[in-house]
Amino acid sequence: MTERRCSELLFVDACPRGPRSRTLALAEAFLSRLSQHLPDLRIRRHTLTEMNLQPSDAAWLIRKDALCDRRDWTDERFEAALAFRRADAVVIAAPYWDLSFPAILKTWVEKIWVRNLTFIYQGDQPIGLARGKAAAYITTSGSFLAGHDWGTAYIRDVMTTLGIPIFESVAAEGLDLLSSDPAQILAGAMDEAGKAADRMAELLQH
Ligand SMILES: Cc1cc2nc3c(=O)[nH]c(=O)nc-3n(C[C@H](O)[C@H](O)[C@H](O)COP(=O)(O)O)c2cc1C
Repeated sequence: MTERRCSELLFVDACPRGPRSRTLALAEAFLSRLSQHLPDLRIRRHTLTEMNLQPSDAAWLIRKDALCDRRDWTDERFEAALAFRRADAVVIAAPYWDLSFPAILKTWVEKIWVRNLTFIYQGDQPIGLARGKAAAYITTSGSFLAGHDWGTAYIRDVMTTLGIPIFESVAAEGLDLLSSDPAQILAGAMDEAGKAADRMAELLQH
């Protein structure tokens, strides 16, 4: 009989304000609800501000290409990509900054975008190799985004291209407006986060 592997979730924390971050609080509510459904769920946390992630430079790009050709993933700079590829689900939390998200999250995307590890070319088409069943993106913003949430749209495309078929997003918008009641907006978003976590739990159970 084969032993059933516990699900593993990669939590990508791109919230630079740490414990003061409302986005992080929303993500923690999502994770806690998910853990209620799936007590054996293993959550691997990648707190990006603590990972010394560096943007790709010319020297790394040359070396990375050679390592990708050889499928040699021993360099520690592949750690983020290896964790991303093996996760059954991925949850990313980032505040809305300057029409998208903090630069550290783009640096993480550069790290997970690895030929022959997280995607492969078939002809000219990239085919995703991530094993995850679902990804969720959690964000908060100071104003109302009125459909111009470039952060969520970009992360959705990244997850889909790299092979994760189901994408959920939760956003608490308008938190910094004088006319807003941030506590009420956050309470509504917590509710949405709970429902999104219920759906992800259902997927991971099957
Ligand atoms: C550097 C920076 C850039 C921001 N840019 C935007 C923006 O473009 N649009 C917006 O609506 N809010 C913007 N905000 C407000 C944040 O999105 C908002 O305060 C958010 O809730 C912060 O999340 P946090 O509590 O998790 O840090 C910005 C805040 C900071 C610090």
